[in-house]
Amino acid sequence: MIRSAFRFLRTNPLSVQQRMSQSCLAGKVAIVTASTDGIGLAAAQALGKRGAHVVVSSRRQANVDKAVALLRSQSIQVTGTTCNVGNAEDREKLVQMTLDQCGGIDILVSNAAVNPFFGNIMDSTEDVWDKILAVNVKASFLLTKLVVPHMEKRGVGATVKVVSAGRIQTWTPSVQGLGPYSVSKTALLGLTRALAPELAHSNIRVNCVAPGIIKTRFSSALWENEGIVKQFKKQLSIKRVGEPEEIGGVIAFLCSQDASYITGETITVTGGMGSRL
Ligand SMILES: NC(=O)c1ccc[n+]([C@@H]2O[C@H](COP(=O)([O-])OP(=O)(O)OC[C@H]3O[C@@H](n4cnc5c(N)ncnc54)[C@H](OP(=O)(O)O)[C@@H]3O)[C@@H](O)[C@H]2O)c1
Repeated sequence: MIRSAFRFLRTNPLSVQQRMSQSCLAGKVAIVTASTDGIGLAAAQALGKRGAHVVVSSRRQANVDKAVALLRSQSIQVTGTTCNVGNAEDREKLVQMTLDQCGGIDILVSNAAVNPFFGNIMDSTEDVWDKILAVNVKASFLLTKLVVPHMEKRGVGATVKVVSAGRIQTWTPSVQGLGPYSVSKTALLGLTRALAPELAHSNIRVNCVAPGIIKTRFSSALWENEGIVKQFKKQLSIKRVGEPEEIGGVIAFLCSQDASYITGETITVTGGMGSRL
């Protein structure tokens, strides 16, 4: 079976080329939020390496400048601006700047999230809930709402939301304490399921990627703690923490033509944690 598949690929180079061109994103414009570090930056790199013009942003100008310089040094077409996704004016500025400088929008990767609280969920306050839901959930929807009319003008679009495998799988007791954050990620799964059939009419796909523990600043309290990592590894088939690039590539796949029949779904990328939807 495998031998015949290789024989097919050897004797049909055109079909290989066709597959490659389907994953190519040349001519596409991609907004990635919170993209000056970690998973967002890796997603911008993955999209950019496939030919998309990427629009990177985060709250701090210095971080934007650094990310733009890095991506340019990798020959990626990039535009950068500050955008705190929790701020309506910033979201509008991000979209308008993209339209002015890139002429349209094809892809939105909604990656920004905050977690200002760690502890028993019964100890979380209204302020914590307001902040988490505003940034992680409401901003993701409102940004989608802003970009959809422009995707409709292009006749096609793809959006990916970064959620978390932590909400799908009950992680080890030592990392319980992420209650409100996990609820916000669960809400994004619901939002994805609600948006997918509605936006399919406009040829816009809506999906999620759910990372396990990935080596970024955001999760450093987990992967820098040897005890937590040891417990996690017991649940993993691939016995290591993931790298941001291992999420970026999956995001680029979901945005590409290779994923043209996938919508309303979540791909978990956890090193085989065994998470089930
Ligand atoms: N790392 C993991 O293990 C893991 C696991 C599951 C899910 N996730 C999810 O992955 C996403 C990215 O996390 P990460 O681990 O890549 O984090 P990270 O490496 O710490 O990067 C966070 C990025 O977000 C920006 N940012 C923070 N708040 C923002 C806001 N309100 N508006 C716009 N940008 C903002 C930061 O730049 P500024 O400081 O300049 O704003 C930075 O570029 C989050 O949705 C997180 O929930 C991560």
